[in-house]
Amino acid sequence: MDGNGRWAKTRGLPRIAGHRKGVENVREIVRMCGDKGVEYLTLFAFSSENWRRPDREVQLLLELFSSALNKEVGKLHKNNIRFRVIGNVQRFGEKIVAKIAKAERLTSENTSLTLTVAANYGGRWDIAQACSQVVRRAMEGEIDAESIMPETIEPYLSMYGIPEPDLFIRSGGEQRISNFLLWQLAYTELYFTETLWPEFDGVEFDKALESFARRQRRFGLTGEQVEAARHA
Ligand code: IPE
Ligand code: MG
Repeated sequence: MDGNGRWAKTRGLPRIAGHRKGVENVREIVRMCGDKGVEYLTLFAFSSENWRRPDREVQLLLELFSSALNKEVGKLHKNNIRFRVIGNVQRFGEKIVAKIAKAERLTSENTSLTLTVAANYGGRWDIAQACSQVVRRAMEGEIDAESIMPETIEPYLSMYGIPEPDLFIRSGGEQRISNFLLWQLAYTELYFTETLWPEFDGVEFDKALESFARRQRRFGLTGEQVEAARHA
């Protein structure tokens, strides 16, 4: 969800006003997922590199995250949405950690949308933390170090149990992954748009979904094989 700061700047507003607008937009996009048949939405809210921003901005972002947890979780639950947070959340402090745990518990049985927020998340961090669990299990003799496969590591990744993403959308004009779901994006369709996150609306969402629908996903096969399988 990139482009909040620039959205604010072009309006002569402080960056935090852009982040506030960004949160409002999350609400809209989450609402639209239902209509569009999207069952899993994962939002990159705060990366492990974002701590390097000016202290004041980091502090305001944390306050915004905390107040969004207070205000939105009840509504998510009412809408049958399962809410999860992935990332190294300990660094946000006890209060936020407790709120996250409570929200995850409350909504864990919900069945419409699964909404995952990545906060203090990094794709490399995720793979590293999974590896340290795998190593621990190997030392306990539960895993054979000689036969580690991707499937051995997967259960320890923070997105375990959630299908790999079909579509990745990055707003704000940059064309890079920036340490998002590195492992899970292996076969994901990538979509980049100049539109700044606060302006990424239903029309933009549809454009992304239409672009996705036009693509042939081959997963290593030839185009002919995919077509033959489709008609079989
Ligand atoms: C939001 O957009 C992403 C967050 C880290 C919260 P930015 O804050 O990166 O906005 P730009 O790139 O400065 O426009
Ligand atoms: Mg940015």
